[in-house]
Amino acid sequence: MEFYQTEADKQRLDRQIGRATQSVNAVKDIVAQGRFRQGYHLMPPAYWMNDPNGFVYFKGRYHLFYQHNPYSAVWANMHWGHASSEDLVHWTHHPIALAPSEPYDTCFRGGCYSGSSVVAGEKLVILYTANLVEHGVQTQKQCLAWSDDGIHFSKYHNNPVIDCPKELDAANFRDPKIWKHGNLWYCVVASKINGDACCAIFRSTDLIQWEYKGVLVRGEGKLGSMWECPDFFPLEDKYVLQFSPMNLGVYKTIYLVGDMDYDTCRFTWKTKGEIDAGFDFYGPQTMQAPDGRRIMVGWQNAWDWMPWFSGFGAAPMENWCSCMSIPREITLGKDGLLHFKPADEMKLLRSSAQDLGLLKCAKEIKQNLTVGDNIHFELHLDIDLHLTNADSLQIHIRHSDFEDTVIQLDFKNQVLTFDRSHSDFCMKGTMTRPLPLNSDGNLSLDLFSDTSSIELFVGDTLCMDCAIFAENKSNKLFFESFGGDTILNAHSWQMPRNEKDITNN
Ligand code: FRU
Repeated sequence: MEFYQTEADKQRLDRQIGRATQSVNAVKDIVAQGRFRQGYHLMPPAYWMNDPNGFVYFKGRYHLFYQHNPYSAVWANMHWGHASSEDLVHWTHHPIALAPSEPYDTCFRGGCYSGSSVVAGEKLVILYTANLVEHGVQTQKQCLAWSDDGIHFSKYHNNPVIDCPKELDAANFRDPKIWKHGNLWYCVVASKINGDACCAIFRSTDLIQWEYKGVLVRGEGKLGSMWECPDFFPLEDKYVLQFSPMNLGVYKTIYLVGDMDYDTCRFTWKTKGEIDAGFDFYGPQTMQAPDGRRIMVGWQNAWDWMPWFSGFGAAPMENWCSCMSIPREITLGKDGLLHFKPADEMKLLRSSAQDLGLLKCAKEIKQNLTVGDNIHFELHLDIDLHLTNADSLQIHIRHSDFEDTVIQLDFKNQVLTFDRSHSDFCMKGTMTRPLPLNSDGNLSLDLFSDTSSIELFVGDTLCMDCAIFAENKSNKLFFESFGGDTILNAHSWQMPRNEKDITNN
């Protein structure tokens, strides 16, 4: 592999990174004081963040890049922000990794779009989408960048390395995900063929010359209009394709489980599922940890074209926007579905463990709880549905006289509703899904509350990530049981209250 960058290209990139870094540094100390800043979710030090990019383990650290506008808290002018971690939960912010610096990727309504990275020998190699809009015409091409230390990147002098094949849509040809199989490199790229959403597949021996191997799989008109941020990876003896479909109603992160045929480069799937059913989880990316676990993070926000979108929340008023979800581990269940749980490393953030014991939530009596500071906490519930005779249980979080977030567990109809209609002044609506019970007929639920979000893990198969921007004084937590009593066991932990608790700089 011979990667090369001219001195002039390097200087241009360094200049753009320097400018962007200065812009962020000028405000980051003030931004850090924002009252809606998260306690233990990774956020940009300032300004805009979207999709996770290039998530990888390289030379002893997890590296997580992200779509970033370092000049304002709205989407534009895409750069790659960068943080790394030894344990997935404590982070070090690094200088911006990629900035638009070349004619092929410099564009206010574009720039260095999403992509992925792989470890190739001693190098970390990135494939990202260069997005240009010229005279009203949008084109997307795949470009290569690399680094020896995982911090400083160079762009390949002969970029782009992948042009859009003729049969695909050059305005929708983005978000490459690379992996290695045998001695060959592969990458999938989201696109459209005759108007139908699809993933194209390419193969390479050196990461520079890519051969188009056709369409890995297409939506047949049933799975939205474009599959953003595809990720394709082996799990047990199967392959998983996950993506964020555009225009598929309330579904915004889908997975397909099936078989990969490397001779034909075609993927045939049998099972379909939803990765996250909350309001705010998009463009997730996975990586394989050194111990073999498949770890996923997603962008904890949503786009304005989504049916329930009512705004990016209160954070942009504080000159930042969005954060990453907590890391999740995914496995393939015997039921053929993906199973999700918080990555074990989340336990490193716990303090003040409380065993709240066996609780009886009597019919229509508010059962108040104190878990840590009632804002930054993890709460684990095991609900005994054999002893419970209630029809439903409501969990009220971030409650006050003027704000309330409600998770309703309807045991009778086996439905869960996340209601943020009264959570704050900007994020509205309810989201409903079937309630997944454990194989013994009981219900387990893990709830992560942070300054401005709630993340739920229900049973093995349902996750809901939701941003809420409640005031600090909205900090009451209570259960209320309807139609009978609910019997549950509860454990709780205080979680970090301030980003300083999880960042080293
Ligand atoms: C998804 C997405 C990607 C694109 C990036 C641009 O959130 O639209 O498809 O690469 O954001 O920031």
